[in-house]
Amino acid sequence: MQAIEVFPSTDNEANLQLHADGRLHHLLTLKGLHRSLLTALLDDAQRFVSKPGEPTVRSRSLAGRTIANLFFEPSTRTRASFDLAGKRLGADVLNLDVNTSSRKKGESILDTIYTLQAMHVDVMVVRDASTGVPAYIAKHVADHVSILNAGEADASHPTQGLLDLLTIRQRKGSFENLKVAIVGDIRHSRVARSAAQGLHTLGVGELRLVSPPALAPDADEMPYAALYNDLDEGLRDADVVMALRIQRERIDSLDGIPGSDEYFANYGISEERLQGAAPDAMVMHPGPMNRGIEIESALADGPASAITQQVTNGVAVRMAVLEQVCRSVDGH
Ligand code: CP
Repeated sequence: MQAIEVFPSTDNEANLQLHADGRLHHLLTLKGLHRSLLTALLDDAQRFVSKPGEPTVRSRSLAGRTIANLFFEPSTRTRASFDLAGKRLGADVLNLDVNTSSRKKGESILDTIYTLQAMHVDVMVVRDASTGVPAYIAKHVADHVSILNAGEADASHPTQGLLDLLTIRQRKGSFENLKVAIVGDIRHSRVARSAAQGLHTLGVGELRLVSPPALAPDADEMPYAALYNDLDEGLRDADVVMALRIQRERIDSLDGIPGSDEYFANYGISEERLQGAAPDAMVMHPGPMNRGIEIESALADGPASAITQQVTNGVAVRMAVLEQVCRSVDGH
């Protein structure tokens, strides 16, 4: 039987991820990151965005560096974009196949990490179903190693938050006058938490979290956001609408959670429901999406949709984050 590992949660992740002079060492959460740091990361990421059909932006800034992708949960977008981001910056990238790794033989996560560290891995990109894993690893690695959170249970998905912020900024210019509605399973969503934290830091005009009662966050968790159970009220005059998947893999009991048809009828984002939003409202989804459940298929592929733009920006944002943490180690 595999040994049970316990990952004590930490309340000082925001401090843990910064060097003493404020530079980014790890990226564990957007919570507590200063507005100027978020803006600098978005500006850096924008430099790496190229138009479809144009050659991708490349550099050799990470030549000689090694990045390891450690995904202990499934992923398409995040894992592929970290892989491409590292390669486009000239790094060596290792995609560890966790299903055939020695963790399956009972090796602790720290022994896996120390093994990779001994092979001169500089950046470890970690996705895990347990809260606290990225911070736990960050506390144990050598000073020159950086840990990037690629999705941590329902708690945090900071690079997703950054790519969402970049996409909104590209389409809307700024955040101050925006009404943003995040719709769906807020309670179990690391995407919603990171987006909400980033939007709050950047001074969003109004943040609405819209969900069935069973999928709402605790009332006091995000005091800067307004909670709605009625979709039409939540969408009224919204400039940005972000649809979320129901995170069934994190839900123990489906009591009170609507079935697919009922969910789409009451919470699905469609052309018709979007009529109540602002006329130029943009529609987002982090993926993977369930067409016909949380979002109408035609809307997902239509002009209001920024979904493929989000995916494109995911590579650019991860390039910016990788450069930042490696630059921090270099000390310039
Ligand atoms: N949005 C997101 O994290 O997608 P993946 O699970 O495919 O990485």
